[in-house]
Amino acid sequence: MDRSYVAEPYKIKAVEPIKMTTREQRQEAIAAAGYNTFLLNSEDVYIDLLTDSGTSAMSDHQWAGLMVGDESYAGSRSFKHLEAAVRDLFGYRYVVPTHQGRGAENLLSQILIQHGDYVPGNMYFTTTRAHQERNGGIFRDVIVDEAHDASLDVPFKGNIDINKLDELAAEVGSDRIPYICLAVTVNLAGGQPVSMANMKAVYEWAQRHEILVILDATRCIENACFIKQKEPGFASESITQILREMCSYSDGCTMSGKKDGLVNIGGFLALNDDRLYQKAASLVVVYEGMPSYGGMAGRDMEAFARGLYESVDYSYISHRLEQVRYLGDRLDAANVPIVKPIGGHAVFLDAKRFYPHIRQDQFPAQTLAALLYVQSGVRSMERGIISAGRTPQGNHYYPKLELVRLTIPRRVYTYSHLDVTADAVIDLYSERESAQGLRFVYEAPVLRFFTSRFEPISQ
Ligand code: F0G
Repeated sequence: MDRSYVAEPYKIKAVEPIKMTTREQRQEAIAAAGYNTFLLNSEDVYIDLLTDSGTSAMSDHQWAGLMVGDESYAGSRSFKHLEAAVRDLFGYRYVVPTHQGRGAENLLSQILIQHGDYVPGNMYFTTTRAHQERNGGIFRDVIVDEAHDASLDVPFKGNIDINKLDELAAEVGSDRIPYICLAVTVNLAGGQPVSMANMKAVYEWAQRHEILVILDATRCIENACFIKQKEPGFASESITQILREMCSYSDGCTMSGKKDGLVNIGGFLALNDDRLYQKAASLVVVYEGMPSYGGMAGRDMEAFARGLYESVDYSYISHRLEQVRYLGDRLDAANVPIVKPIGGHAVFLDAKRFYPHIRQDQFPAQTLAALLYVQSGVRSMERGIISAGRTPQGNHYYPKLELVRLTIPRRVYTYSHLDVTADAVIDLYSERESAQGLRFVYEAPVLRFFTSRFEPISQ
C-alpha cells in the first residue's frame, strides 16, 4: 500500500493515557462549560486540539536539560544558554526573557507606543492587540486582502500589503507609527506564512519611513519551513539560514516559546537597539523578574534553549507541517469547507460555509466547536466574532473570518488521532442543517473568548 504521509521522525518514550467518554457525558460537560471549549476540564477531552501553545511534547534531551537548569536568581547559566541560542539562530543582539509571549508584548507595547499611535499589523492576534490598545495604540490591519477570503488558495496569504502601509502613513503620518507588527506565521488568518520577499519589502519601506519592524516570531520556524518549500530560491537553504534572513529584515521580535520553542512555558523579547534594550531590561524587573530569568525557572530556559535547536531540524519541522496538511487534505477531500491553503499549526474550519444558516452574531464557529466536542471528544477553539471582541464603541467586531481552529500540538498526536478528528468533522458536516446558534449568558469584558458562557438559542 502507498503511504501518503511521512512517518514520525521520533519514537515514543513516555505516554500519557487519555480518557474516552460517552456522548451523554460530553453533552453534560459542554453544558456545564457554558458551551465554551475553554471552560471544559481537560480530563473530559479525548483529543485536545484547543491550541498548540504550551502543549508540545519535549524530547528526552529537553527533559534532561531540566535537571541541569541553573536556578540562580541572577546570572543564570541557563539564561546564557537561551540567550546564546537566540543570538545564534535569530541573530538579534539582546534577549529579554519573559514568562510567555504576552509578557514580551507587554514590555514592547509600553516601550514603543504613545497614546494615539497606530500599530499596523498583518491581522491582529488577541493578546498582541490587547496590549497595544491598553497602551493607547490603535491597531490597523494591513494584511493582503486575500487573507480575508478563506477559500482563496494562494501562497503567502500572511503578506503585508505595502499600499495599505502607504495609505496609513499618508493618513496619520509616519511619526504616529512607532512600529509594524509583522507576524510570522499569521495565526488568525489560518497559520498563513509571509514570504521572504514581502518581509524584505516591508523592512525597506519601514526604513524609508523611520519606522521599526518587530516580528511576532511565535511560529517563525513554521514560516521558515514554508519559505523553504514554497518560495523560489530557498529550497537548498537550511531552516536556520532562512530564519536568520527573516530576522535580518526586522529590528526585534516578541516570541512565545510555547509554540515553535517546543516548551510548555516561556518567551522573550529580542532587540538590536541599545537604548530600547535598556528600557526593556528596566521594565522586565517590574513585570517578570530579573533580566536573567524573566519569569521562567532556570530549567525552563534550559529546555527552551534546547527546544529552539530541535525546532530548526528540517526532519522535525517538515513532518509537523505534513501532519497538519494530512488532516486538512482529508477534510478537503470530503468537501468540508476549510481555510486554504492549509497553514502551519492548524486546520481551520470555515464556519460561515459550514453553517451558512447561522447568523454571525449567533456564533457559528462557537457552535461548531461545541458540537464537535459533543460528537467526538475533540476539543477545538473558536476564532471568529467572539475572539474578535468589541470595538471601543461597544459593538461586535464582525471579522470576515469565522473559523474553528483544529490546532495540532507538536510531537503529541499520531496520524490515527488525526483520522478520528477528520471522521468526526466529516460526520458533523453531513448533519449540518440541524445545528442552531448560541447566545451569551455571561460576556467577559476583556478577551471574552476565554471565559464567556453561552446557551443554545433553542432554549
Ligand atoms: N502571538 C501569537 C501569534 C500567538 O498565537 C500567541 C498565542 C501569542 C502571540 C501570545 O503568546 O500565549 O505565550 O502569551 N497564542 C496561543 C494560541 C494562545 O492558542 O494561539 P503567549
